[in-house]
Amino acid sequence: MSAGDQLTISCQSAVPKVLPHMPSTRLDTAENPLREGLSQRPAPQPCTLVIFGATGDLTHRKLIPALYNLYADGNLPPALTVVGFARKEKSDDQFRAELKETTAKFSRQKINEELWTHFAASIHYHQTEFGHTAGYTALAKKLDQWDIENGTHGNRLFYLAIAPDQFAIVLENLRTSGLSATKPGSWARVIVEKPFGTDLASAQHLNALVQGSFPESGTYRIDHYLGKETAQNIMVLRFANALFESAWNSRYIHHVQITASEILGVEGRAGYYDRAGALRDMVQNHLLQLLCLTAMEPPIDLDADSIRDEKVKVLRSLRPIIGNEVAVRAIRAQYGAGSINGKRVVAYRDEEGVNAESKTETFVALHISIDNWRWSGVPFFIRVGKRLPKPGTEIAIHFKNVPQVLFNKGSELLDENVLVIRIQPDEGVSLRMSAKLPGSSVRIEPVKMDFHYGTSFGKATPEAYERLLMDAMSGDATLFARRDEVEEAWRFIDSIREFWDRSGDEPLVYSAGTWGPSEADRLIQRFGTNWRRL
Ligand code: BG6
Repeated sequence: MSAGDQLTISCQSAVPKVLPHMPSTRLDTAENPLREGLSQRPAPQPCTLVIFGATGDLTHRKLIPALYNLYADGNLPPALTVVGFARKEKSDDQFRAELKETTAKFSRQKINEELWTHFAASIHYHQTEFGHTAGYTALAKKLDQWDIENGTHGNRLFYLAIAPDQFAIVLENLRTSGLSATKPGSWARVIVEKPFGTDLASAQHLNALVQGSFPESGTYRIDHYLGKETAQNIMVLRFANALFESAWNSRYIHHVQITASEILGVEGRAGYYDRAGALRDMVQNHLLQLLCLTAMEPPIDLDADSIRDEKVKVLRSLRPIIGNEVAVRAIRAQYGAGSINGKRVVAYRDEEGVNAESKTETFVALHISIDNWRWSGVPFFIRVGKRLPKPGTEIAIHFKNVPQVLFNKGSELLDENVLVIRIQPDEGVSLRMSAKLPGSSVRIEPVKMDFHYGTSFGKATPEAYERLLMDAMSGDATLFARRDEVEEAWRFIDSIREFWDRSGDEPLVYSAGTWGPSEADRLIQRFGTNWRRL
């Protein structure tokens, strides 16, 4: 997304009264409750979606393709108006043409001309400066008019796809123009993109800012990992299968590894990334969310707050990593030059836009302890990095080995059971077990039971943003981070970050295309185990 986009109002093209409704391709939830998500959700409600930062990357790569796919699958509300709010001068038609080009490139489904034409007719462009109060007043008038024409009932969803330093001015204008106020029988909500602060203090400041204009119940903080189908499946796997949950504790589990590996580098985002680093960019949000879903207690029901209450308890149980403990439990490193898939890549410090003396980490490995009844003594390891050899995000539950009697008393121990939840790619779940090799002698080999989403359900997995946009239009905040979750996560991250900043040490260096520095291997080897090879 680009910081500093602005807006105008231009509405040259005619808008259809209502989006032509596509037949729903969804399965009957009565027959297939699990395939439809964690709960029976309310339907998305007619509304106007105003995207701030409409000419930016996020709008083009994620938001509009997600809306188009929802439309093609019959999952949009019957009336939806999309308004792009940005600074650059352009007409509705120009905006639509640009969006069509990028949607064709990034959409999960191919563009169908007829569908696109219907869908695009609901999109408008509003040009104005973010700080230009009259632009908001003009927008308010247009929205009122479109509400009448399109049947959107005064419901407004504001999407802040802008740099955080522009939040204040936009939120303030939404409040003073009355746009953030709810009218009887309608709602106003805001979706806030990450990064949600850079530390606890800035997150608290941001939260206060947002809540000056929107209540917590109308605030939807995006963590796109929560929208991934496989992340949602963690709860189903745990709480819909007696087999797993009964062994999901320190009695049976030896340790847990959570890995998010990317082959990509900073990809033109150096301005942001060089100030953030992997700990803020990935661990504070995505990785800690996955850890929460893996470690939390069963919620009392499936509503948003019950689930979020349990996640917050996990975050509060994380043993703080403080002072010299940081050197032992937190490894940070930066990629040097190397090669990936036979292609040479430059060192992080040589990437365009990166400070040549940057100390920003592109790799983090952590040993985390959860001080609660269920997890006491079970180490959780997190590993995240850019320019690693293979892309993949997974959670691996390593069970304790069977007693060293019977089949497990030779010189070589059996491989322990490992349950792997593959978040991406090749979404699925596998279980490693021991089995006897056919023959007269007793030879035991590890075998794998493997479930793949693609083949088992024969249904394309929706993009995270599809699910999240739909939920925000439905008023379901389950897959969005609550204020206290974000703040607790920062509290945990801050002590590590502060130690690193204070030490002034250079990060370790790993060659691009390798699995990080050997110190990260030693971190886990102290527990008699190794990182899994993806
Ligand atoms: C973003 C980070 O939140 O997540 C990026 O800012 C990272 O640095 C991306 O590449 C990874 O998301 P995904 O869905 O590709 O795993």
